[in-house]
Amino acid sequence: MIKKKMIAVTALFTLLSSFTYAAQDMTAPKEYPKGELGKLVKLGEDIMNNTDTHPLTKDFVGNKLQCKSCHLKGADGKPGTAGGISSWIGTAAAFPAWSKREKTIQTLQDRSNNCFMRSMNGKRPIIDSEASVAMAAYITWLSEGKKIKMNEKGPWSEHNTKLYPKAVKHFKKIQKKATHENYLAGKEIYKNQCASCHGANGEGVAAFPPLWGKDANGNWLSYNTGAGMSKLDKAAAWVKSNMPLGQGNSMSDQDVADVVLYMNAQERASFDLKKRLLPREQMGYYNSKVLEEKHTVESNFKALGLNLEEIKNGK
Ligand code: HEC
Ligand code: HEC
Repeated sequence: MIKKKMIAVTALFTLLSSFTYAAQDMTAPKEYPKGELGKLVKLGEDIMNNTDTHPLTKDFVGNKLQCKSCHLKGADGKPGTAGGISSWIGTAAAFPAWSKREKTIQTLQDRSNNCFMRSMNGKRPIIDSEASVAMAAYITWLSEGKKIKMNEKGPWSEHNTKLYPKAVKHFKKIQKKATHENYLAGKEIYKNQCASCHGANGEGVAAFPPLWGKDANGNWLSYNTGAGMSKLDKAAAWVKSNMPLGQGNSMSDQDVADVVLYMNAQERASFDLKKRLLPREQMGYYNSKVLEEKHTVESNFKALGLNLEEIKNGK
């Protein structure tokens, strides 16, 4: 009898906690706005899907990724509507928002443009360019009906703020203890659970995006060392929630930590903020108080007290 009651209470709890989740409707609005606004939203959507080849953005991209490579498509097929970490549902309702990285209040356009320098391994587009406005229009459309609540904690939606910082902190604790053994375990996990889509050497397969390295012409394929994804703890939070594709939250925390240790120990472009900004007279307003920032694969490991050489080679 008591046992039955316990089960009922647990079931209710599960129902309630999943209800708070389901309460967030993670789909795009059913219809585009009419007229010119609708056209702009669709242009933004097109850019999110084809960022590295779109005529308005290709010159600002230095890899083979699109925004939707990390802001995944949900059941409605729209970039950024998948329910895991880095969804864009509700993002526009959280901006302008505080950003510790830039030490300023960021607009949605600032936030999207900065991804070009880091995740897209390119240059920062001009703030009031057509592409920048169109991307902001698309992301804003995804927040239609959501309550505006500017975020003083970080440049993330309410949904991501609930999931992301906590997961990052959790994985940081695990990652700090990493050794060469974890690297070897990660290599094995990569081979078994990731390589079929992302390639034996992280080079990507057909429509499945690359994770590291260069192509035959020496061009970088994926995100650089200034991207959120290049930080061990942040990447682990994202991978846990979103990978393997369609099977988010299926891997153990240790397996995620290990496979990310392996992934982010491989070669990728270095980040030097100064080289990612257009010349002052072209760039327009750059909304940041931080004008110098550099990262390498090695320094990203060092940030968690890890020695890259030791982790990779065991000495
Ligand atoms: C390599 C993966 C990757 C790619 C590609 C990428 N992003 Fe992101 N993006 C992230 C991650 C991870 C976060 C959250 C992490 C953080 O704040 O450090 C994020 C956060 C954001 C946010 C804030 C969302 C929120 O509510 O938390 C916006 C807006 C955004 N990205 C726009 C873009 C745009 C626009 C593009 C394409 C030009 C893009 N991103 C490409 C990984 C990526
Ligand atoms: C079934 C195929 C599949 C498997 C297996 C898979 N991924 Fe992915 N992954 C994808 C696709 C597809 C995307 C991009 C989504 C899009 O473009 O719509 C992606 C995106 C990513 C990204 C961000 C984009 C980039 O290229 O940097 C990372 C990081 C990533 N996956 C890591 C992993 C890891 C680690 C594993 C193994 C634990 C894994 N994936 C397993 C298909 C897969």
